[in-house]
Amino acid sequence: MAGLAAPKFGFAQQTVSNQAYTGKAQPGDETRTQRLQWWHEAKFGMFIHFGVYSSIMRHEWNMENEAPPIEEYMAHAKSFKPSRTGPRAWAKLAKRAGMKYMVLTTKHHEGFCNFDTKLTEYNAVKQGPGFDIVKEYVDAARAEGLRVGFYYSLMDWHHPDGAHCATDEAARKRFVEYTHGLIHDILSNYGKIDVLWYDVPWPLDADGWESKRMNEMVFKLQPEIVVNNRNKLDGDFSTPEQKIVAETGGRAWESCMTLNDSWGYQRADDAWKTSKTVVRNLISCARDGGNYLLNIGPKPDGSIPEESVRILTEVGDWMAANGESIYGSDPCQPRRSNYASFTRKGNTLYMHVHFWPGEYVSIGGLSVKVKSAKLLKGGKPVTFTQNEWHVKFTGLPEKAPDSPVTTIAIECDGEPAQDNIRVRKEKPRAGV
Ligand code: GLC
Repeated sequence: MAGLAAPKFGFAQQTVSNQAYTGKAQPGDETRTQRLQWWHEAKFGMFIHFGVYSSIMRHEWNMENEAPPIEEYMAHAKSFKPSRTGPRAWAKLAKRAGMKYMVLTTKHHEGFCNFDTKLTEYNAVKQGPGFDIVKEYVDAARAEGLRVGFYYSLMDWHHPDGAHCATDEAARKRFVEYTHGLIHDILSNYGKIDVLWYDVPWPLDADGWESKRMNEMVFKLQPEIVVNNRNKLDGDFSTPEQKIVAETGGRAWESCMTLNDSWGYQRADDAWKTSKTVVRNLISCARDGGNYLLNIGPKPDGSIPEESVRILTEVGDWMAANGESIYGSDPCQPRRSNYASFTRKGNTLYMHVHFWPGEYVSIGGLSVKVKSAKLLKGGKPVTFTQNEWHVKFTGLPEKAPDSPVTTIAIECDGEPAQDNIRVRKEKPRAGV
C-alpha cells in the first residue's frame, strides 16, 4: 500500500437518515400547518435520481465509492446526452402510479447541476445534455397536474471548496455563497416550487451552512414551499430513508425508498421490489400519518427501467381502485393482523388483505361496532358477524378479488380502535 495517502476524512456513506427533531423555533413555523396541507393529503410521491452518474450506470456514489480520476468523471458530463422527452415519461408514469408530486435531483453529490446557472459551467446546458433538464421536468410535472419538488445535495464532490470548507473559513464563505446562490437560482427561475429536499450536509453544521439564513431566503422566494430537515434544521418534515419509521407528536414525515437497491441507475442491480411490497409500504406510511417517496433511476437517455415501469403500473392499477383508502387518510390505530394491515378515514376502517386466506377474514379486539362493509374495488357488499371479541367477514371467494392487495372498506359507528390485550386478558378460556 506504499504511496497511498491516508484518507483525510472518516465518513460513512449513510450520514443522514432521520435526524433527531429538535422542536426549536425556526423559519416557516407560523405557516407550517397550511403549507403542509396538500402534502399530507398527497401521501405518495416520485423521487427521481438523474445526473451524470446515470450515464455511468454504476449507482450515484460512483464518484466516491470507485473514486475515478476527476477528468475521467468529467468526460462523462460531456458524453451525457439524455433525450429532452425523458421527463415527460417520468411525469406520465408518476401520474399513472397514483403519485401526486415529484422530487428531482437538481444537483446530487457529484456537483453537476441539471439546471442552467451562471455560477458554474458544470451544468446541463453547458455540458453534454445541451438543455435545461430541470425546466423540462418542471413543465412535464405541471402538464400532468403534479406538484413539483427539487432535491439539492449540499455535499459536493466537485466544487474545489466542497471539503476543506470545514477547516478554512475563506473557503467556507465562498462555498456557502455558491450554495445559497444555486438554491436561489432553482427557486427563482421555474415558477412555484412545492418541495425543497435538501440532502447530506457534510461537512458543515447548521451554523456553517448558515441554514437559518438559507431557509429564510427559501421562504421569501417560495412562501408556500415545504422543506425537509437535511440542512440540519428541523424544516417541515423528517426523512427516514429506506425504512418506515413514524414520527411522534404530529410531526410530519416522509419515508424515501428505492425500487431496487440503488437511487441512481445501476444497470446490474436486479433487487426489484414487488408491487405488493410497494403497496404494503404505502399502506404502512399512510396508516402512521406519513408519506411515501418512491424512487426511479432513469437510464442514460432518460428512459425509465422496464422493471420500474411494470411495478409502478401495477401499483397505479391498485391505486385507481383503492386510492380513497390512501389519499387524505387519517392516522390509524388498528394494526394487528396476520394477513392484513389498515388505514382509516374518519370512521371508516380499510382492511388491506395482502395474504388472502379465502372464505373469511376476521379482526380481533375491534372496539367499535361495524355498520357495513364492502369490497373497495367494485363495491360488492360483504356480510359479517360481530361479537365482543371479533368481527368476522364472511362469504368471501377462495381467490383474492383484487391484486396485489384486497381492500375491505368497513364503516364503523365511531373511530376504529383495536385492543388485543383485552382479548388476551378477558376472552373466556376453556377448562383444562
Ligand atoms: C442518501 C444517499 C443519496 C440519496 C439519498 C436519498 O443520502 O447519499 O445518494 O440521494 O440518500 O435520500
